Amino acid sequence: MSLASSFHLVSNTSSCRVGIVGFGTVGSAVARRLTGCDAVPGVTLSHVCDRRAAAKQGCLPGDTAITWTTEIEDLLRSDVDVIVETVGGVDPAAGWIRDALLAGKSVVTANKQVIAREGQPLLVLASRQGRQLRFEAAVGGAMPIVRAISDGLAGDRLRRVVAILNGTTNAVLSRMEATGCSLDAALADAQRRGYAEADPSLDLDGGDAAAKLAILCALAFGVRVDVARIETQSVRTVTSEDFDAARRQGGTIRQLAHAEYDHERAALVAWVAPAVVPRGSVFARTVGPQNAAVISGAHAGEVSISGAGAGGDATAVAVISDILAIARDRAAVMPAPVLTTPRVIGGLVAGLAGGRSEDRPLQGGVVEAGLQTGLEIAEVV
Ligand SMILES: NC(=O)c1ccc[n+]([C@@H]2O[C@H](COP(=O)([O-])OP(=O)(O)OC[C@H]3O[C@@H](n4cnc5c(N)ncnc54)[C@H](OP(=O)(O)O)[C@@H]3O)[C@@H](O)[C@H]2O)c1
Repeated sequence: MSLASSFHLVSNTSSCRVGIVGFGTVGSAVARRLTGCDAVPGVTLSHVCDRRAAAKQGCLPGDTAITWTTEIEDLLRSDVDVIVETVGGVDPAAGWIRDALLAGKSVVTANKQVIAREGQPLLVLASRQGRQLRFEAAVGGAMPIVRAISDGLAGDRLRRVVAILNGTTNAVLSRMEATGCSLDAALADAQRRGYAEADPSLDLDGGDAAAKLAILCALAFGVRVDVARIETQSVRTVTSEDFDAARRQGGTIRQLAHAEYDHERAALVAWVAPAVVPRGSVFARTVGPQNAAVISGAHAGEVSISGAGAGGDATAVAVISDILAIARDRAAVMPAPVLTTPRVIGGLVAGLAGGRSEDRPLQGGVVEAGLQTGLEIAEVV
């Protein structure tokens, strides 16, 4: 823990008590950090709620001091200050986050689907309740893009975010690039390494990155975007021949999430698709389950950020950072952002129509787009 955060916590008289809901990959990694030899001073894990609590109980150091339960009500009625939601999915997670805020708890969640769909009303509720709802882990795993956009770059007028937001798909595509193998072989490798779920549809077809992009649109541009309005193109059709063609053009292929907002026209272009990126770009250098983003503002120009986009231990860092932010000042209330609805929302075609003259659709439903991302040129394949 940093000197700065220890300093803040010293001024708190009581430890911040934490309850975790969902003891899976991320929840158990957070629990291990809070109870292990690398424990976080000033933060105490007191409750774990999981539907298979009995089977999972007993695996943490000091477990006997922790209340294990299958009932969320046990956490809502307890004296925990912060509930960490790592169950995933929209239902029942969204309802549980609402119930936790209504019970006077602050909430830290890693759940992009809930924040993309219900984030705004939940943030309003949190601020009405005088509590905090934090979600750094919901976008980019350990890559602190939520904080970068909402705090570090709050003084700019952001225009564009281009990012690799799905670690699973990046692991698959960068494996194809490195070995020349098929997408199926690369996916099987990612599943063996624990980077990919048995059903990788949300990752490969772009739904996961689209939910994260909707969150970034709210943070970066102050606009509310229905995830379903973000055009997505699957990477499932990408072949080793596409990689050969990209290589001949001096690039490689990555799944990009692209959002660009024209503040004057209230026009948003947002899409997720496989794209050709130049070999020397930050995106081409992003391999395995890493994430990366280039954020462009009117005043600061381009800011790049990258980091581990998935994995329990890496994601736990983002969750614990949010817990620490709450522990430092439990009385702090974060005002909910006021979001507007864009007048126009475009996808790939709108992006291309408004783009440069070399943008052109190719045969076979594949699209090529010359996308100027500041220092970088990317093409959608
Ligand atoms: N994994 C990552 O690298 C990563 C990175 C960033 C963000 N996230 C986000 O973090 C969240 C958790 O992901 P994860 O990978 O940790 O998922 P996971 O491994 O499937 O963990 C979810 C846990 O919640 C439990 N659970 C599910 N439904 C429940 C219910 N109704 N009541 C009580 N417990 C329930 C599951 O129990 P069972 O063991 O019985 O299934 C499991 O232990 C998701 O929102 C995900 O998008 C994950």
